[in-house]
Amino acid sequence: MRRYFVGGNWKCNNTIAQTQSLINTVINKLVFDTKKVEVAVAPIFLHVPWVQANIQKNVQVAVQNSSLTKMGAYTGEISVEQVKDLAIPWVILGHSERRQYYGETNEIVGKKTRIALDYQLSVMACVGEKLAEREAGQTTQVIQAQLDAIKKELTTDQWSKVVVAYEPVWAIGTGRTASPEQAQEVHAFIRGWLKSQIGTQAEQATRIIYGGSVTEKNAADLIKQPDLDGFLVGGAALKPAFADIVAAANNAR
Ligand code: PGA
Repeated sequence: MRRYFVGGNWKCNNTIAQTQSLINTVINKLVFDTKKVEVAVAPIFLHVPWVQANIQKNVQVAVQNSSLTKMGAYTGEISVEQVKDLAIPWVILGHSERRQYYGETNEIVGKKTRIALDYQLSVMACVGEKLAEREAGQTTQVIQAQLDAIKKELTTDQWSKVVVAYEPVWAIGTGRTASPEQAQEVHAFIRGWLKSQIGTQAEQATRIIYGGSVTEKNAADLIKQPDLDGFLVGGAALKPAFADIVAAANNAR
């Protein structure tokens, strides 16, 4: 059985005082069965050392990006060696905000994923269609192209350290969540892709999580879907609602 995975993507939110308060009042009070659920939160880079020193041991720390380039003369970047050096286990790559605002193409996301995996980081690899693409009936085509670009870079074994996050762009930060059926349809497509393109081991073991306006109100229904293995949470991850979302995963099945 796959372990559920719940990620909190804090994006570019929070002063240090706000991050400290979130850790102390919400994250360090989370109670869940670690055999059943894995939880990771992603603060901004600058807050990582404080978070690592103060977070409860059952919650892992992630970063929201890592560089396409290694250590060196790349002003403003943070490389995978440096992420690894701080013993940060997870990185979120290919988030739609990176794709949309920072020009990350499928090819860049594929390469970044490989570099991160080469340094033994685990990756939440995000895929998802825009509203116009969904309306034009291109959802699976778009997601397939995003997955193919990652596959091109990875060895079969490396998929064991990938969690695929399906995040329809039209659902991110909009309050418009995919229905459980809409999410399941795409998750099943991704699982089928894993089977045909990577293999049965990847099909069975890879977590496929959903992101896009997940709240304490819709989490319990979404998690019932057979191919939905958890969540990547944005807005609600900054609030006490995150505890209810983790509880929904903890109480499922
Ligand atoms: P949201 O963001 O929960 O605020 O929609 C999800 C994400 O971007 O990962």
